[in-house]
Amino acid sequence: MAETQRILVTRRWPGAVEQALSERFDTVFNGPDDPMDAAALADALRNFDAVLPTVSDRLPAALFEGGGLRAKILGNFGVGYNHIDVAAAKASGIVVTNTPGVLTDCTADIAMSLLLSISRRTGEGERQVRAGEWTGWRPTHMIGTKVTGKTLGIIGFGRIGKAMAKRCHFGFDMDVVFYNRSKVDPAEAARYGARQLATVDEVLAIADFVSLHCPGGGENRHLIDARRLKIMKPGVYLINTARGDVVDETALIEALEAGTIRGAGLDVFEAEPVVPERLRALDNVVLLPHLGSATEETRTAMGMKVVDNITAFFEGREPPDRVA
Ligand code: DGY
Repeated sequence: MAETQRILVTRRWPGAVEQALSERFDTVFNGPDDPMDAAALADALRNFDAVLPTVSDRLPAALFEGGGLRAKILGNFGVGYNHIDVAAAKASGIVVTNTPGVLTDCTADIAMSLLLSISRRTGEGERQVRAGEWTGWRPTHMIGTKVTGKTLGIIGFGRIGKAMAKRCHFGFDMDVVFYNRSKVDPAEAARYGARQLATVDEVLAIADFVSLHCPGGGENRHLIDARRLKIMKPGVYLINTARGDVVDETALIEALEAGTIRGAGLDVFEAEPVVPERLRALDNVVLLPHLGSATEETRTAMGMKVVDNITAFFEGREPPDRVA
């Protein structure tokens, strides 16, 4: 029965979720909340029935090789799971689950917040006021770019892409176009005020704002590279709340420094938590510490999804959010 299962939670989780886990399982928590290194994670896979990782853990193929693993399920806290080599986990008989659905609105809210913040220069303005450098209102002070009525290009029309389209079209009168790997029914797209284009390049060529909502890893690594940054419209803003590796960060820095693109709002980075000094030195970026799902309601809901997934698994039912 579930109570006998040994569970390892790799980071601190919201209190209500830790409580639920400790009531159902023999659970070990990470009191200090320090990220676990490869050796600690390898050890966890050998000594626990379930390991509950987050995006801050790296679980490459090497961790699943060599046999002797006790873990039967990885209950990932998060919808994205490109930090786990899912094929290798599956090959060693480990089930992987994620937490879709519950973070859609909050992640779209952060994307919207970045879009508004970078185009209206609110980060820069805030820094100026805090530094005591504001000299007063004037018609030419800190001029940004109007958002209402512009064209938004979305890459990846899943739940979060759709939620972003809805906000931008119905809230800000924007024309919304998107690229999605599979064909979306035009009637479904129209519900979000959006229309599908055939290629990423077509979207990039007409968008005033580009917002990324596709998964990271695999073929999406460096989807936005130097070539694609060049085909974007002059004056475009890039918003990334997906995964850092979807953008070639070095190429992005060069485009921002050269003014090829006007600005970027980033919640995710290639080597989190490292954010390159050259990026931090720029004024035409808004940089957030991966806050997409960071609300009390959403983080609790994400944790409860993990609880549901591993409970189902250990009770012999299909976990609702199985990805492998
Ligand atoms: C997600 O759910 O994918 C968030 O980015 C945290 O991992």
